Amino acid sequence: MTFVVTENCIKCKFTDCVDVCPVDCFHEGPNFLVIDPDECIDCTLCEPECPAGAIFAEDEVPEDQEQFIQLNAELSKLWPLITEVQAALPDADDWNGKEDKLDLLER
Ligand code: SF4
Ligand code: F3S
Repeated sequence: MTFVVTENCIKCKFTDCVDVCPVDCFHEGPNFLVIDPDECIDCTLCEPECPAGAIFAEDEVPEDQEQFIQLNAELSKLWPLITEVQAALPDADDWNGKEDKLDLLER
């Protein structure tokens, strides 16, 4: 199994998740992070660290966000690895919890 980053990370990108991952499976896009499902060892550490509550175990991803399972798999092969925490995006606190952010995902 893998863990999956879902919609509420978009335009927030707090990156606290990166700090705890023991196997470096996070990849970074302009305004979103994804997990490489081939690297994730299912350790569960990242899930509680995300201030946006955007990380779920694959089998617990909310039904309306299931497309993010495929998005993580796809984008993790295209985007570079991120291994260090960085500042959240500007206005991250304002975007935290906003709905329908998928259209704002930059590739
Ligand atoms: Fe990394 Fe563990 Fe989160 Fe998988 S569950 S992305 S291995 S911290
Ligand atoms: Fe995104 Fe949460 Fe990590 S907002 S960058 S999944 S800490």
